[in-house]
Amino acid sequence: MIFDRVKSLDAILATAEKKGLERSLGAFQLTMLGVGAVIGTGIFVLTSEAAQKAGPGMMLSFVIAGFVCAVAALCYSELASMVPVAGSAYTYTYAVMGELLAWMVGWALILEYAVGASAVAVGWSGYFVGFMKNTFGVVIPQALAVGPNEGGIVNLPAVVISALVTGLLILGTTESARVNAILVAVKVAALTLFIALTVPAIKATEFTPFLPNGWGTIGVVGAASSIFFAYVGFDAVSTAAEETKNPQRNVPIGLIGSLLICTVFYLLVSAGAIGAIGAQPVFGLGGEALPPGSPELAARCAQIVAGGATEPLVCSHEALAHVLRVVGWARIGNLMGLAAFIALPSVVLMMMFGQTRVFFVMARDGLLPAKLASVHPRFKTPHVVTAFTGIVVTLAAAFLPVGKLADYSNSGTLFAFAMVAVSVMVLRRTDPTRNRPFRTPFVWVVAPLAIIGCVGLYLYLPFVAQMVLFGWGAIGLAIYFGYSRSRSNVGRGVNDLDDNPAFDTAHAAE
Ligand code: ALA
Repeated sequence: MIFDRVKSLDAILATAEKKGLERSLGAFQLTMLGVGAVIGTGIFVLTSEAAQKAGPGMMLSFVIAGFVCAVAALCYSELASMVPVAGSAYTYTYAVMGELLAWMVGWALILEYAVGASAVAVGWSGYFVGFMKNTFGVVIPQALAVGPNEGGIVNLPAVVISALVTGLLILGTTESARVNAILVAVKVAALTLFIALTVPAIKATEFTPFLPNGWGTIGVVGAASSIFFAYVGFDAVSTAAEETKNPQRNVPIGLIGSLLICTVFYLLVSAGAIGAIGAQPVFGLGGEALPPGSPELAARCAQIVAGGATEPLVCSHEALAHVLRVVGWARIGNLMGLAAFIALPSVVLMMMFGQTRVFFVMARDGLLPAKLASVHPRFKTPHVVTAFTGIVVTLAAAFLPVGKLADYSNSGTLFAFAMVAVSVMVLRRTDPTRNRPFRTPFVWVVAPLAIIGCVGLYLYLPFVAQMVLFGWGAIGLAIYFGYSRSRSNVGRGVNDLDDNPAFDTAHAAE
């Protein structure tokens, strides 16, 4: 039962040929989509949280999280080049381990993409609120600036940005990719400027003690499991495979290229931040470690600032802007805030893009209502699923805080990555002769490392985030057995290409 209903790779490829989306993206655009998806709230907002756990050792956290993503990306690349269709880890799992596990992966990808998009929208909202205050003196009332967990009612800026991005995606992929390229340029320019101004100011003394909290949950590995969010999104490149020209060559370039670019930026930015103003955790009065995002830490930060000291990095909600202000570049610090304000929406855009494509393929397979897969006659985009995703993202962004959303997103992502690594090994055994335009190097070392890395990081996530994966999975199983299993094309023996009246009705407008 667990491994039945495997969908043949040939059927997947044939379906994509007949019912695919328009192929318009090249290697450069794809790499830019990857960078656009990856650099975001993780480095701009969550750096403070990582420093509170790991201190200067957060550089190791970036390396650990980056390493897990790199080995996962190598596995992704093999499957993405073999199966260049929309759907990412969901599609690969369907072809290798069958429908039930594929459903669970697709379900987990909702956590990654939709909840991740919400997290970035909330991170953006923090910069927007600060930007309006510092630049125009406009104070957005607390009730409309943050969700209920942080003492507000609804996060209105996060709601607005989610709705705007949804509209842009409905208008079209090419337009969206073009806007995205401009936003990526802004983000890369901002981080480059940050590095140029802070690296010369590095003081070696700021790096000691290097591991103030050791390696544990509140320490280097715990910080790695949260800062993992900073790398989430590179796999969105593979979900665009069906819209890519020459995907066999361009998808691996897009995946690995964007990951490399981001890793270099993260290490330089974190070194600059640590070395310029220090990144030691703030401890309680009794010397105890305080978890990031806790009321205890907020109270201690308020005490420190009230005492006349400079606000520590770990207390700031605008980490990078704060560093620049402290080292004497106040105006450029404000510009950094402006860059985040302009550019973070590109991350929301990419994550929602990935989500809509996964939903699109799940609907095409009959596991979700066919109506979701309908393509707009004029814009040629899956408008129904995009609007639906937009509503889900907007609701989560309206009411939940950024750190929690990021950790929930991580739990789903780590599950999906691990399944991809399993799939690549299984497929090497079950279908060894199939053409592999990109082969994962040392697959019997790399894929197990990816699995160990994902499980390891998952175990260091906060307990609630770990449980979210189980709770979400239970809901997913209920829907699968209550709705999807009986309607699945593979289960009913329906050929995607010819005999799927529901899907064809949904496409009547094409
Ligand atoms: N990696 C993306 C970010 O950091 C999700 O915002």
